[in-house]
Amino acid sequence: MEAIQGSGPAQASRATIIQTRPLAPRIGAEILGLDLRDDLSAQVLEAIRDTWHRNGVILIRGQSLDEAAQVKFAQRFGDLGKVLHAHEGRSSLPGVMYISNVRENGKLIGALPDGEMYFHSDQCYIETPSVGTMLYAMEVPSKGGDTIFASMFAAYDELPDDLKSKIEGCKALNVYDYQNAATVRGSEVKAGVPSFAHPMVKAHSATGRKALYFNRLMTDHIVGMDKSESDALLERLFDHQEQERFLYRHVWKPGDLLLWDNRSTLHARSDFDASERRKMRRTVVVREH
Ligand code: SIN
Repeated sequence: MEAIQGSGPAQASRATIIQTRPLAPRIGAEILGLDLRDDLSAQVLEAIRDTWHRNGVILIRGQSLDEAAQVKFAQRFGDLGKVLHAHEGRSSLPGVMYISNVRENGKLIGALPDGEMYFHSDQCYIETPSVGTMLYAMEVPSKGGDTIFASMFAAYDELPDDLKSKIEGCKALNVYDYQNAATVRGSEVKAGVPSFAHPMVKAHSATGRKALYFNRLMTDHIVGMDKSESDALLERLFDHQEQERFLYRHVWKPGDLLLWDNRSTLHARSDFDASERRKMRRTVVVREH
């Protein structure tokens, strides 16, 4: 399945051999006509990679992937991460985990089982976060549990000049502590909790395009700034990042595969009925080849 003529506006200049269409005005592209179990040529892979870099999120629907097929496809982009935190969501293959509320023998089979999640980018609390996250839908609730993406390229481009100059050269501390960091400002960052200060504006490692790099879920404060000033500024910045015009909301269907770029997007999750099953398989690309 290759040498498909491109036609969509989201189509990348080098991606004329795949067919794409935009998901939203500023973020996301759907790639059509691929079966990811096929042996995709290097040329098709480069077109997919280019589309991912430029659009932040790619969607490929209607897949039928077992663990090995998902790992094989993800590995074409780079080295896969091992699962960072101990939980029941590990699979027998390193680098595969489940995001799920399903229980087997009374135990959760996955991480992040239920509930809403604020906007964040994966692993922003470590020095070298994974560049991409791939999520494949196996079982989805009848309503809710949507994943919502925000373009941090567009949010940077459209940041008002006064805010741009306030964060110029600044770093923000990101913390992995959902209860006590971003959601409860004013509390101390607890000892031993993973945290790392990243520049608030980062150039994408593949394209050089600038993106905002901080988020409501995990960013605790701006380094070196008075706490109340930092809290007030972050609140304005989070509100800016999460404006509707920067977003794409994905309503999942089984067989959907999404790959998002943690360098240029944030994602959040909407609430869903905890009594309904949700099972997603996740692989993360730590660094690109
Ligand atoms: C995540 O934040 O990685 C989970 C996204 C989701 O469950 O939709």
